[in-house]
Amino acid sequence: HSIVFVTSEAAPYSKTGGLGDVCGSLPIALAAHGHRVMVVSPRYQNGTTADQKFANAKDLGHCIKVYCFGGEQEVSFFHEYREGVDWVFVDHPAYHRPGNPYGDSNGAFGDNQVWFGIELGFTLLSYAACEAPLVLPLGGFTYGEKCLFLVNDWHASLVPVLLASKYRPYGVYKEARSILVIHNLSHQGVEPAATFKHLGLPSQWYGALGWVFPTWARTHALDTGEAVNLLKGAVVTSDRILTVSKGYSWEITTPEGGYGLHELLTSRKSVLDGITNGIDVAEWNPSTDEHIAVPYSADDLSGKVECKMALQKELGLPVRPDCPLIGFVGRLDYQKGIDLIQAATPEIMEEDVQFVMLGSGDPQYESWMRVAEVTYRDKFRGWVGFNVPISHRITAGCDILLMPSRFEPCGLNQLYAMRYGTIPVVHATGGLRDTVENFNPYAEGGSGTGTGWTFSPLIKDSMLAALRNATKTYREYKTSWEGLMKRCMEKDYTWENAATQYEQVFEWAFIDRPYVS
Ligand code: ADP
Ligand code: GLC
Repeated sequence: HSIVFVTSEAAPYSKTGGLGDVCGSLPIALAAHGHRVMVVSPRYQNGTTADQKFANAKDLGHCIKVYCFGGEQEVSFFHEYREGVDWVFVDHPAYHRPGNPYGDSNGAFGDNQVWFGIELGFTLLSYAACEAPLVLPLGGFTYGEKCLFLVNDWHASLVPVLLASKYRPYGVYKEARSILVIHNLSHQGVEPAATFKHLGLPSQWYGALGWVFPTWARTHALDTGEAVNLLKGAVVTSDRILTVSKGYSWEITTPEGGYGLHELLTSRKSVLDGITNGIDVAEWNPSTDEHIAVPYSADDLSGKVECKMALQKELGLPVRPDCPLIGFVGRLDYQKGIDLIQAATPEIMEEDVQFVMLGSGDPQYESWMRVAEVTYRDKFRGWVGFNVPISHRITAGCDILLMPSRFEPCGLNQLYAMRYGTIPVVHATGGLRDTVENFNPYAEGGSGTGTGWTFSPLIKDSMLAALRNATKTYREYKTSWEGLMKRCMEKDYTWENAATQYEQVFEWAFIDRPYVS
């Protein structure tokens, strides 16, 4: 097939979380299966060294004009062919600003910055992605109309709406298909109603999509009290819907996990499924990882303790190979259950353990981490920032990775941890429940079964109980611990398996077309 990924981030060019990882590796896995794959993403220029990541992408000398936001916007395309994939970067001044794709040190790019803000940037991304297969000569020829759009999260959600409202009525893209991939339903791109007219869509589409969201809109408190919900538009108009784990595809049909869309998603259940993410096994490989002190593997684990001692030294913690070292890596966000960690830290610190956290995000948690570091000088380190080499060293050097996520569509850090023999302790939700199997010490001979600890409900005491089970097993039951490590490290984390499942969904999308505009 000709596949077009549309995404706000793609590693290594841009990444703030797992979406970037997935859109940086799944396209390569699909290209290796013989598909033609293009990734369309913004060409961010934020005035830092990160800009150099786009240096090999060359200007294709092709511009398109998009009529939206009250005027004519000129968009150009840059291109790099790498690892079998056409990486296409959409260029416009909206992407040239300090900060990450969604905000800067003042917070999220908001409605007050509408002209060069997040809405304009992602609207242009969707328009450009719809045009790219038709107009861009890549490697000598164009992708053409019969392509499959993989629309990632709300940022790209206008794509199926544009196909339905602006192309198919004119006979274009009749044979194309779109698949919405939901990585995180809690962000829906709920924009004030006033923005609808900026989107450049035919006016009848406002009502047609049921984009009127009075409850949400009240939090935005703008003029009419109504809002457009971009993700909802894609839920209605895309041919199929995928989430990044099976468990999460069920959770979003429940009132607890549906963020207001559970009824709509339930009505689309026949086209809704989940495929668990893989990981980039070349980047996350303990036997070749250049960021860690000593390489190791499931056959020879001796390097892991060296990595632990090197990490303790780097962090200025007492170098104690016997002391359980617990790690956390992730966005400091409500989703990740940081409040629970914060509440439990005094009790965690009563034990003979060490704890290191790496993360950035909510300033209230950043300052709490800084304070905790001073309070528990010999036991706790809170590294505020986004730092890929350190995230590798924590993944390798820790014994336990803690992930008390409130919800987790898939989660990649627990997969990285398992590949490095670092045992996950996770809240039993979404992709965490699907990928971590609770340890059973009594099953099958000497070392039991399972790959970590899953706890529920999401309360401090159940998290502490799981952590204590883990640290006790680490200290007192070495055979069990080695069994856990080996089982974790020997699992198959490649994209191969997921890519094959994606292909099955592609086949269905072309055979059976539930939505016809
Ligand atoms: P999410 O996408 O919800 O943030 P995932 O677990 O899917 O969660 O992916 C997070 C990705 O971002 C992982 O690759 C993780 O290593 C990375 N990451 C998150 N925070 C940091 C940080 N502070 N420094 C380095 N990498 C980070
Ligand atoms: C999202 C989710 C995370 C998932 C990632 C990649 O950001 O929060 O659970 O792993 O997307 O799909």
